[in-house]
Amino acid sequence: MDAPQIYVERTLAIVKPDAIHKSEEIEDIILRSGFAILQKRRVHLTPEQASDFYAEHYGKMFFPSLVAYMSSGPVLAIVIARDQAISYWRELIGPTNALKARQTHPDCLRAVYGTDDQRNALHGSDSFSSSEKEIRFFFPDSVIEPVPVGQAAKD
Ligand code: TYD
Ligand code: MG
Repeated sequence: MDAPQIYVERTLAIVKPDAIHKSEEIEDIILRSGFAILQKRRVHLTPEQASDFYAEHYGKMFFPSLVAYMSSGPVLAIVIARDQAISYWRELIGPTNALKARQTHPDCLRAVYGTDDQRNALHGSDSFSSSEKEIRFFFPDSVIEPVPVGQAAKD
């Protein structure tokens, strides 16, 4: 009989400048939520790098202040993995607007660690293609070789 094959998904989490002082606590929550931490990197983005990362929002009213905020101090980029990592991490962090999230999703991480619609403490990739692109942005040498768990156990 073929060994069962279990695949995990990875996504990019970012602890933003307003929450960097809570990053150890946030890493604990990530681990307790069933994620493995594959890679992490603390980096102080330049305004140019922050603009590139958020290029999809170029031209929007909030873009200049978003870039200023994301380059105002170090961030912690973390590659995390588990089953359905992308949607599960988005669910854990909650809605974009941390202030509104306090009313509707009081337990979500943005409600707990964020302040408003900009200073929302955490990022999560929103799809498979953006997760791969965003992981490459912070970890350009990242290579993954997926190993089905069942196969590894057989060897
Ligand atoms: P967006 O991709 O809409 O949200 P999310 O981070 O939940 O995917 O926006 C990207 C970031 O831009 C968001 O995390 C915070 C900032 N932002 C503002 O500053 N003002 C706004 O009105 C919005 C919608 C976002
Ligand atoms: Mg987004």
